[in-house]
Amino acid sequence: MDVQELRHHFPILSRTVGGRNVVYFDNAATSQRPDTVDECQKTINAFHNANIHRAVHTLSAEMTDLYEMGRESARKFINAESRENIILTGGTTAGINLVANTFCPTFMKEGDEILISEGEHHSNMVPWMIQAGMHHLKISYIPVDASGHWDMETCRKRLSGGRVKMVAVAHVSNVLGIINPIEELIREAHKTGACVLIDGAQGIVHTDVDVKKLDCDFYVFSGHKIYAATGIGVLYGKKDCLESLPPWFGGGEMVDVVTYDTFTAAPLPLKFEAGTPNFVGAATLTPALEMASAMKSAEIEKNTLEMTEYLSSSLQAVEGFHLYGTGDGKVPVFSFSVEHCHHEDIAILLDKMGIEVRSGLMCAEPVIGRFGQTGLVRVSLAPYNTMEECEYFIKCQNRVLNMLS
Ligand SMILES: Cc1ncc(COP(=O)(O)O)c(C=O)c1O
Repeated sequence: MDVQELRHHFPILSRTVGGRNVVYFDNAATSQRPDTVDECQKTINAFHNANIHRAVHTLSAEMTDLYEMGRESARKFINAESRENIILTGGTTAGINLVANTFCPTFMKEGDEILISEGEHHSNMVPWMIQAGMHHLKISYIPVDASGHWDMETCRKRLSGGRVKMVAVAHVSNVLGIINPIEELIREAHKTGACVLIDGAQGIVHTDVDVKKLDCDFYVFSGHKIYAATGIGVLYGKKDCLESLPPWFGGGEMVDVVTYDTFTAAPLPLKFEAGTPNFVGAATLTPALEMASAMKSAEIEKNTLEMTEYLSSSLQAVEGFHLYGTGDGKVPVFSFSVEHCHHEDIAILLDKMGIEVRSGLMCAEPVIGRFGQTGLVRVSLAPYNTMEECEYFIKCQNRVLNMLS
Protein backbone atom coordinates (compact mmCIF):
# COMPACT_ATOMS: atom_id res chain seq x y z
CA MET A 1 0.00 0.00 0.00
CA ASP A 2 1.25 3.53 -0.77
CA VAL A 3 0.28 6.77 0.97
CA GLN A 4 -2.42 7.74 -1.53
CA GLU A 5 -4.08 4.32 -1.25
CA LEU A 6 -3.84 4.60 2.52
CA ARG A 7 -5.54 8.01 2.50
CA HIS A 8 -8.55 6.55 0.69
CA HIS A 9 -9.22 4.53 3.83
CA PHE A 10 -9.60 7.72 5.89
CA PRO A 11 -12.65 9.60 4.56
CA ILE A 12 -12.21 12.46 7.05
CA LEU A 13 -9.04 13.52 5.23
CA SER A 14 -11.12 14.80 2.33
CA ARG A 15 -13.29 17.14 4.42
CA THR A 16 -12.53 20.83 4.33
CA VAL A 17 -11.64 23.32 7.05
CA GLY A 18 -11.28 27.01 6.20
CA GLY A 19 -12.20 26.22 2.59
CA ARG A 20 -9.29 23.80 2.09
CA ASN A 21 -8.72 20.08 2.46
CA VAL A 22 -8.03 19.57 6.14
CA VAL A 23 -4.41 18.99 7.16
CA TYR A 24 -4.69 16.88 10.28
CA PHE A 25 -1.53 17.30 12.35
CA ASP A 26 -2.88 16.40 15.80
CA ASN A 27 -2.38 12.66 15.59
CA ALA A 28 -0.61 12.36 18.96
CA ALA A 29 -3.85 13.46 20.64
CA THR A 30 -6.04 11.10 18.63
CA SER A 31 -5.56 9.52 15.24
CA GLN A 32 -8.21 9.28 12.53
CA ARG A 33 -10.26 6.11 12.02
CA PRO A 34 -10.09 4.09 8.81
CA ASP A 35 -13.22 3.00 6.95
CA THR A 36 -12.56 -0.57 8.12
CA VAL A 37 -13.06 0.50 11.74
CA ASP A 38 -16.20 2.37 10.79
CA GLU A 39 -17.47 -0.73 8.93
CA CYS A 40 -16.74 -2.89 11.97
CA GLN A 41 -18.81 -0.61 14.22
CA LYS A 42 -21.68 -0.47 11.72
CA THR A 43 -21.72 -4.24 11.24
CA ILE A 44 -21.81 -4.81 14.99
CA ASN A 45 -24.71 -2.40 15.42
CA ALA A 46 -26.60 -3.95 12.51
CA PHE A 47 -25.98 -7.64 13.26
CA HIS A 48 -24.17 -8.62 16.44
CA ASN A 49 -24.93 -6.17 19.24
CA ALA A 50 -25.46 -8.08 22.52
CA ASN A 51 -23.76 -8.26 25.88
CA ILE A 52 -20.72 -10.54 25.99
CA HIS A 53 -19.61 -13.53 28.07
CA ARG A 54 -23.07 -13.81 29.63
CA ALA A 55 -25.80 -15.32 27.50
CA VAL A 56 -26.09 -18.52 25.51
CA HIS A 57 -27.85 -16.92 22.53
CA THR A 58 -26.34 -16.46 19.08
CA LEU A 59 -25.87 -12.71 19.16
CA SER A 60 -24.06 -12.83 22.48
CA ALA A 61 -21.79 -15.63 21.26
CA GLU A 62 -20.94 -13.71 18.08
CA MET A 63 -20.22 -10.50 19.99
CA THR A 64 -18.08 -12.40 22.50
CA ASP A 65 -16.03 -13.79 19.60
CA LEU A 66 -15.53 -10.30 18.16
CA TYR A 67 -14.46 -9.00 21.59
CA GLU A 68 -12.01 -11.84 22.09
CA MET A 69 -10.70 -11.39 18.54
CA GLY A 70 -9.89 -7.77 19.49
CA ARG A 71 -7.91 -9.07 22.46
CA GLU A 72 -6.13 -11.59 20.23
CA SER A 73 -5.25 -8.85 17.72
CA ALA A 74 -3.71 -6.81 20.55
CA ARG A 75 -1.83 -9.87 21.83
CA LYS A 76 -0.33 -10.56 18.42
CA PHE A 77 0.48 -6.90 17.77
CA ILE A 78 2.73 -6.69 20.84
CA ASN A 79 3.83 -10.34 20.76
CA ALA A 80 2.44 -11.22 24.19
CA GLU A 81 2.44 -14.85 25.29
CA SER A 82 -1.28 -15.44 25.82
CA ARG A 83 -4.73 -13.87 26.19
CA GLU A 84 -4.21 -13.90 29.97
CA ASN A 85 -1.61 -11.16 29.54
CA ILE A 86 -4.05 -8.78 27.83
CA ILE A 87 -6.49 -6.78 29.96
CA LEU A 88 -8.89 -4.67 27.93
CA THR A 89 -9.30 -1.27 29.58
CA GLY A 90 -10.70 2.15 28.78
CA GLY A 91 -7.31 3.44 27.59
CA THR A 92 -3.80 4.28 28.74
CA THR A 93 -5.04 6.34 31.69
CA ALA A 94 -7.29 3.52 32.88
CA GLY A 95 -4.46 0.97 32.59
CA ILE A 96 -2.01 3.08 34.61
CA ASN A 97 -4.64 3.76 37.28
CA LEU A 98 -5.38 0.05 37.53
CA VAL A 99 -1.72 -0.78 38.17
CA ALA A 100 -1.12 2.19 40.50
CA ASN A 101 -4.20 1.40 42.59
CA THR A 102 -3.38 -2.27 43.00
CA PHE A 103 0.42 -2.34 43.01
CA CYS A 104 1.12 0.46 45.50
CA PRO A 105 -1.09 -0.73 48.39
CA THR A 106 0.03 -4.35 47.85
CA PHE A 107 3.77 -4.04 47.37
CA MET A 108 4.88 -0.66 48.71
CA LYS A 109 5.40 0.65 52.21
CA GLU A 110 6.14 4.05 53.70
CA GLY A 111 9.32 5.59 52.25
CA ASP A 112 9.38 3.38 49.12
CA GLU A 113 9.84 5.17 45.80
CA ILE A 114 8.15 5.33 42.42
CA LEU A 115 10.59 6.43 39.73
CA ILE A 116 9.15 8.35 36.77
CA SER A 117 10.73 10.77 34.31
CA GLU A 118 10.37 14.54 34.22
CA GLY A 119 8.74 14.27 30.80
CA GLU A 120 5.68 12.20 31.72
CA HIS A 121 2.09 12.83 30.67
CA HIS A 122 -0.17 13.74 33.62
CA SER A 123 -1.72 10.26 33.23
CA ASN A 124 1.57 8.75 34.28
CA MET A 125 2.18 11.21 37.11
CA VAL A 126 -1.05 11.93 38.93
CA PRO A 127 -2.11 8.29 39.62
CA TRP A 128 1.27 7.75 41.31
CA MET A 129 0.97 11.06 43.18
CA ILE A 130 -2.41 9.98 44.55
CA GLN A 131 -0.92 6.70 45.76
CA ALA A 132 2.15 8.48 47.16
CA GLY A 133 -0.16 10.74 49.20
CA MET A 134 -2.21 7.82 50.50
CA HIS A 135 0.65 5.48 51.41
CA HIS A 136 3.48 7.92 52.27
CA LEU A 137 5.53 6.95 49.23
CA LYS A 138 8.08 9.12 47.44
CA ILE A 139 8.18 10.01 43.76
CA SER A 140 11.64 10.47 42.30
CA TYR A 141 12.43 11.66 38.79
CA ILE A 142 14.72 10.77 35.90
CA PRO A 143 15.94 14.19 34.71
CA VAL A 144 15.29 15.15 31.09
CA ASP A 145 17.91 17.37 29.45
CA ALA A 146 17.34 20.35 27.17
CA SER A 147 17.23 18.11 24.08
CA GLY A 148 14.58 15.88 25.66
CA HIS A 149 16.82 12.92 26.52
CA TRP A 150 16.99 11.09 29.85
CA ASP A 151 19.96 11.48 32.16
CA MET A 152 20.69 7.77 32.62
CA GLU A 153 23.49 8.31 35.13
CA THR A 154 21.14 10.01 37.58
CA CYS A 155 18.56 7.35 36.82
CA ARG A 156 21.03 4.62 37.84
CA LYS A 157 21.82 6.52 41.05
CA ARG A 158 18.12 6.75 41.92
CA LEU A 159 17.73 3.00 41.35
CA SER A 160 20.81 2.14 43.39
CA GLY A 161 19.22 3.60 46.53
CA GLY A 162 17.22 0.37 46.75
CA ARG A 163 13.92 2.11 47.63
CA VAL A 164 12.47 2.17 44.09
CA LYS A 165 9.76 -0.50 43.76
CA MET A 166 8.04 0.79 40.62
CA VAL A 167 9.47 2.51 37.53
CA ALA A 168 6.76 4.03 35.31
CA VAL A 169 7.90 5.83 32.17
CA ALA A 170 6.77 6.77 28.69
CA HIS A 171 8.14 4.79 25.78
CA VAL A 172 7.89 8.01 23.72
CA SER A 173 7.04 11.39 25.26
CA ASN A 174 3.96 13.07 23.80
CA VAL A 175 5.76 16.43 23.99
CA LEU A 176 9.35 15.65 23.13
CA GLY A 177 8.83 12.88 20.56
CA ILE A 178 11.98 11.02 21.60
CA ILE A 179 12.10 7.22 21.82
CA ASN A 180 13.37 6.69 25.35
CA PRO A 181 16.01 4.02 26.15
CA ILE A 182 13.47 1.77 27.85
CA GLU A 183 15.33 -1.49 27.17
CA GLU A 184 18.31 -0.23 29.16
CA LEU A 185 16.08 1.13 31.92
CA ILE A 186 14.13 -2.14 32.20
CA ARG A 187 17.41 -4.10 32.57
CA GLU A 188 18.73 -1.69 35.22
CA ALA A 189 15.45 -1.62 37.13
CA HIS A 190 15.13 -5.40 37.18
CA LYS A 191 18.66 -5.73 38.61
CA THR A 192 17.35 -3.87 41.67
CA GLY A 193 14.10 -5.85 41.86
CA ALA A 194 11.86 -2.95 40.74
CA CYS A 195 8.85 -3.50 38.49
CA VAL A 196 8.56 -1.51 35.24
CA LEU A 197 5.44 -0.08 33.63
CA ILE A 198 5.79 1.42 30.16
CA ASP A 199 3.30 4.06 29.07
CA GLY A 200 3.07 3.14 25.40
CA ALA A 201 0.40 5.67 24.36
CA GLN A 202 2.81 7.12 21.77
CA GLY A 203 5.34 4.28 21.59
CA ILE A 204 2.81 1.79 20.21
CA VAL A 205 2.25 4.09 17.22
CA HIS A 206 5.85 4.87 16.34
CA THR A 207 7.82 1.71 17.21
CA ASP A 208 7.51 -2.07 16.83
CA VAL A 209 6.62 -3.26 20.30
CA ASP A 210 7.62 -6.75 21.38
CA VAL A 211 6.82 -7.11 25.07
CA LYS A 212 8.72 -10.39 25.34
CA LYS A 213 11.90 -8.80 24.04
CA LEU A 214 11.39 -5.66 26.10
CA ASP A 215 10.82 -7.77 29.22
CA CYS A 216 8.69 -4.98 30.76
CA ASP A 217 6.28 -5.99 33.51
CA PHE A 218 3.42 -3.82 32.20
CA TYR A 219 2.82 -2.02 28.90
CA VAL A 220 -0.25 0.18 28.38
CA PHE A 221 -1.75 1.89 25.35
CA SER A 222 -4.96 3.43 24.00
CA GLY A 223 -6.89 2.26 20.95
CA HIS A 224 -7.85 5.73 19.75
CA LYS A 225 -4.25 6.75 19.09
CA ILE A 226 -3.73 3.73 16.85
CA TYR A 227 -6.83 4.03 14.61
CA ALA A 228 -9.32 2.13 16.82
CA ALA A 229 -12.39 3.52 18.56
CA THR A 230 -12.20 5.74 21.63
CA GLY A 231 -12.71 4.31 25.11
CA ILE A 232 -10.74 1.12 24.55
CA GLY A 233 -7.19 0.36 25.62
CA VAL A 234 -4.82 -2.41 26.50
CA LEU A 235 -2.95 -3.24 29.66
CA TYR A 236 -0.34 -5.91 29.03
CA GLY A 237 1.07 -7.53 32.15
CA LYS A 238 3.36 -10.48 32.79
CA LYS A 239 1.19 -13.28 34.08
CA ASP A 240 2.83 -13.52 37.52
CA CYS A 241 2.61 -9.73 37.92
CA LEU A 242 -1.09 -9.64 37.05
CA GLU A 243 -1.79 -12.65 39.24
CA SER A 244 -0.06 -11.02 42.19
CA LEU A 245 -2.30 -7.93 42.01
CA PRO A 246 -5.69 -7.90 43.76
CA PRO A 247 -8.81 -7.11 41.74
CA TRP A 248 -9.54 -3.39 41.69
CA PHE A 249 -13.00 -2.79 40.23
CA GLY A 250 -15.60 -5.21 41.49
CA GLY A 251 -18.71 -6.23 39.58
CA GLY A 252 -20.11 -8.66 37.07
CA GLU A 253 -17.82 -11.01 35.14
CA MET A 254 -14.72 -10.47 37.29
CA VAL A 255 -15.86 -13.11 39.76
CA ASP A 256 -15.78 -16.85 39.95
CA VAL A 257 -18.04 -17.59 42.97
CA VAL A 258 -20.00 -15.05 45.04
CA THR A 259 -21.71 -15.73 48.37
CA TYR A 260 -23.37 -13.33 50.82
CA ASP A 261 -20.05 -13.13 52.66
CA THR A 262 -17.36 -13.09 50.02
CA PHE A 263 -16.29 -13.75 46.44
CA THR A 264 -13.46 -15.37 44.52
CA ALA A 265 -11.96 -13.55 41.54
CA ALA A 266 -12.26 -14.89 37.99
CA PRO A 267 -9.05 -16.07 36.34
CA LEU A 268 -7.09 -13.68 34.10
CA PRO A 269 -7.88 -11.66 32.13
CA LEU A 270 -11.50 -11.25 33.31
CA LYS A 271 -10.41 -10.62 36.90
CA PHE A 272 -9.69 -7.02 35.84
CA GLU A 273 -12.65 -6.52 33.49
CA ALA A 274 -15.60 -5.84 35.79
CA GLY A 275 -18.91 -4.78 34.32
CA THR A 276 -19.99 -4.50 30.70
CA PRO A 277 -16.86 -3.53 28.80
CA ASN A 278 -16.60 -1.41 25.65
CA PHE A 279 -17.10 -4.49 23.49
CA VAL A 280 -17.64 -2.54 20.29
CA GLY A 281 -14.43 -0.60 20.89
CA ALA A 282 -12.56 -3.81 21.63
CA ALA A 283 -13.75 -5.35 18.36
CA THR A 284 -12.37 -2.33 16.45
CA LEU A 285 -8.85 -3.25 17.63
CA THR A 286 -8.84 -5.95 14.94
CA PRO A 287 -9.28 -3.74 11.84
CA ALA A 288 -7.32 -0.88 13.47
CA LEU A 289 -4.24 -2.98 14.21
CA GLU A 290 -4.49 -4.60 10.75
CA MET A 291 -4.34 -1.08 9.32
CA ALA A 292 -1.42 -0.17 11.60
CA SER A 293 0.44 -3.25 10.33
CA ALA A 294 -0.30 -2.37 6.70
CA MET A 295 1.23 1.06 7.39
CA LYS A 296 4.57 -0.57 8.10
CA SER A 297 5.24 -0.90 4.34
CA ALA A 298 8.65 0.32 3.16
CA GLU A 299 7.07 3.01 0.97
CA ILE A 300 4.93 4.46 3.74
CA GLU A 301 7.77 4.36 6.26
CA LYS A 302 10.03 6.15 3.76
CA ASN A 303 7.42 8.90 3.40
CA THR A 304 7.22 9.31 7.19
CA LEU A 305 10.99 9.52 7.48
CA GLU A 306 11.20 12.12 4.71
CA MET A 307 8.47 14.23 6.34
CA THR A 308 10.23 13.98 9.72
CA GLU A 309 13.55 15.12 8.25
CA TYR A 310 11.89 17.90 6.25
CA LEU A 311 9.98 19.30 9.24
CA SER A 312 12.98 18.98 11.58
CA SER A 313 15.15 21.10 9.31
CA SER A 314 12.48 23.53 8.00
CA LEU A 315 11.07 24.34 11.42
CA GLN A 316 14.48 24.98 12.93
CA ALA A 317 15.28 27.46 10.16
CA VAL A 318 12.49 29.79 11.41
CA GLU A 319 13.80 32.80 13.33
CA GLY A 320 13.05 32.78 17.07
CA PHE A 321 11.87 29.18 16.82
CA HIS A 322 12.69 26.61 19.49
CA LEU A 323 12.08 22.87 19.08
CA TYR A 324 11.80 20.74 22.26
CA GLY A 325 13.12 17.23 21.68
CA THR A 326 15.94 16.89 19.17
CA GLY A 327 18.58 14.37 18.12
CA ASP A 328 18.54 10.58 18.09
CA GLY A 329 15.31 8.60 18.14
CA LYS A 330 13.05 11.44 17.01
CA VAL A 331 9.54 10.45 15.90
CA PRO A 332 7.31 12.87 13.96
CA VAL A 333 6.10 14.77 17.03
CA PHE A 334 7.31 18.38 17.01
CA SER A 335 6.61 20.66 19.96
CA PHE A 336 7.85 24.20 19.61
CA SER A 337 7.66 27.78 20.79
CA VAL A 338 8.32 30.92 18.78
CA GLU A 339 9.64 34.02 20.53
CA HIS A 340 7.03 36.76 20.99
CA CYS A 341 4.21 34.58 19.60
CA HIS A 342 1.56 32.95 21.78
CA HIS A 343 1.08 29.23 21.07
CA GLU A 344 -2.69 29.62 20.91
CA ASP A 345 -2.52 32.46 18.37
CA ILE A 346 -0.37 30.29 16.12
CA ALA A 347 -2.79 27.35 16.39
CA ILE A 348 -5.88 29.53 15.77
CA LEU A 349 -4.39 31.12 12.66
CA LEU A 350 -3.21 27.76 11.31
CA ASP A 351 -6.74 26.40 11.81
CA LYS A 352 -8.07 29.24 9.61
CA MET A 353 -5.80 27.84 6.91
CA GLY A 354 -7.13 24.32 7.40
CA ILE A 355 -4.28 23.00 9.57
CA GLU A 356 -5.15 21.28 12.85
CA VAL A 357 -2.34 21.43 15.41
CA ARG A 358 -2.37 21.14 19.19
CA SER A 359 -1.44 24.04 21.45
CA GLY A 360 -1.12 24.40 25.22
CA LEU A 361 0.27 22.21 27.97
CA MET A 362 -0.43 18.85 26.32
CA CYS A 363 -1.10 17.26 29.73
CA ALA A 364 2.58 17.61 30.56
CA GLU A 365 2.66 20.85 32.51
CA PRO A 366 5.79 20.14 34.62
CA VAL A 367 8.13 19.52 31.69
CA ILE A 368 6.80 22.47 29.69
CA GLY A 369 7.19 24.68 32.77
CA ARG A 370 10.71 23.34 33.24
CA PHE A 371 11.52 24.62 29.75
CA GLY A 372 10.25 28.05 30.87
CA GLN A 373 7.07 27.94 28.75
CA THR A 374 3.36 28.23 29.51
CA GLY A 375 2.40 26.26 26.43
CA LEU A 376 3.75 25.00 23.12
CA VAL A 377 2.49 24.28 19.63
CA ARG A 378 2.61 20.61 18.64
CA VAL A 379 2.60 19.13 15.16
CA SER A 380 2.24 15.35 15.18
CA LEU A 381 2.13 13.29 12.01
CA ALA A 382 0.60 9.96 11.03
CA PRO A 383 1.58 7.75 8.09
CA TYR A 384 -1.37 9.12 6.07
CA ASN A 385 0.11 12.64 6.08
CA THR A 386 1.94 13.80 2.99
CA MET A 387 4.98 15.86 2.05
CA GLU A 388 2.63 18.33 0.27
CA GLU A 389 0.84 18.87 3.56
CA CYS A 390 4.16 19.47 5.32
CA GLU A 391 5.24 21.99 2.67
CA TYR A 392 1.88 23.77 2.90
CA PHE A 393 2.21 23.87 6.68
CA ILE A 394 5.68 25.48 6.52
CA LYS A 395 4.35 28.10 4.09
CA CYS A 396 1.39 28.82 6.40
CA GLN A 397 3.59 28.82 9.50
CA ASN A 398 5.78 31.54 7.93
CA ARG A 399 2.65 33.54 7.01
CA VAL A 400 1.34 33.19 10.56
CA LEU A 401 4.61 34.39 12.06
CA ASN A 402 4.60 37.42 9.73
CA MET A 403 1.05 38.20 10.81
CA LEU A 404 1.99 37.93 14.50
CA SER A 405 5.28 39.86 14.39
C1 LIG B 1 2.36 9.57 26.61
C2 LIG B 1 0.90 9.57 26.94
N1 LIG B 1 0.48 8.94 28.04
C3 LIG B 1 -0.82 8.87 28.37
C4 LIG B 1 -1.78 9.46 27.59
C5 LIG B 1 -3.22 9.35 27.97
O1 LIG B 1 -3.92 8.62 27.02
P1 LIG B 1 -5.51 8.43 27.11
O2 LIG B 1 -6.06 9.82 27.27
O3 LIG B 1 -5.88 7.81 25.81
O4 LIG B 1 -5.81 7.59 28.30
C6 LIG B 1 -1.39 10.14 26.43
C7 LIG B 1 -2.38 10.86 25.62
O5 LIG B 1 -2.06 11.81 24.93
C8 LIG B 1 -0.02 10.20 26.09
O6 LIG B 1 0.40 10.79 24.99
